[in-house]
Amino acid sequence: MSADSHNDPNTEPVDRRLSRRAFLRGAGAAGAASALVAAAVDSADHAGAASPEPRRDDSRAAVHKGEINLTLTINGKPRLVTVEPRTTLLNALRYYLDPPLTGTKVACDRGTCGACTVLLDGKPVYGCMILAADAVGRSVTTIEGLSPDGENLHPVQAAFVEHDALQCGFCTPGFVLTVTSVLNANPQATVDEIKHGCAGNLCRCGSYPHIYEAALSAGKTMAKKGAGNG
Ligand code: FES
Repeated sequence: MSADSHNDPNTEPVDRRLSRRAFLRGAGAAGAASALVAAAVDSADHAGAASPEPRRDDSRAAVHKGEINLTLTINGKPRLVTVEPRTTLLNALRYYLDPPLTGTKVACDRGTCGACTVLLDGKPVYGCMILAADAVGRSVTTIEGLSPDGENLHPVQAAFVEHDALQCGFCTPGFVLTVTSVLNANPQATVDEIKHGCAGNLCRCGSYPHIYEAALSAGKTMAKKGAGNG
């Protein structure tokens, strides 16, 4: 047997050639299957990353693979929500609660504009930058929570109306909640302290002067009533 015959399949015993071919066929099939699975997973991952989160509908009442049940305390009440672990608090409020709370607005969705501001344990946070799961065990206040009956406005809401502190209104829920947090801590906050507190909220319509006037006015009302009524 020459040295080359060691690698010549035609000189190998038949059973050995068969077993090698069988192995290669099997490996090829397994490799192809792995590639298909990987491509499918990759494709699914990319589809998930590129597309917006699905909106809740009745077919989502059951917990699907990868979803979790959370109980969030929202505006003083326990609310059950079923979401994927990656779901932000903003999306949980708007799309997964039943009924939804849509007063919290989606604008930049990247922690820049403050339209999605909610209060977490009384402090303003960007709803788009916190996972719903991270809000478990904490108190979430949305704009709906400031005036549960929709009739009796919170002093900050009333002041925004009185001082015409909005144009398109898209930034307004976020501003109202941030101002409420500032004034709950100190209803006699100065305009500079209010501006500092609102540094994370942007108003593209440029309503800032009226927003600060409203905040100062609401502070006076809250000081009279006693702080902590928001
Ligand atoms: Fe339009 Fe503030 S009122 S963004």
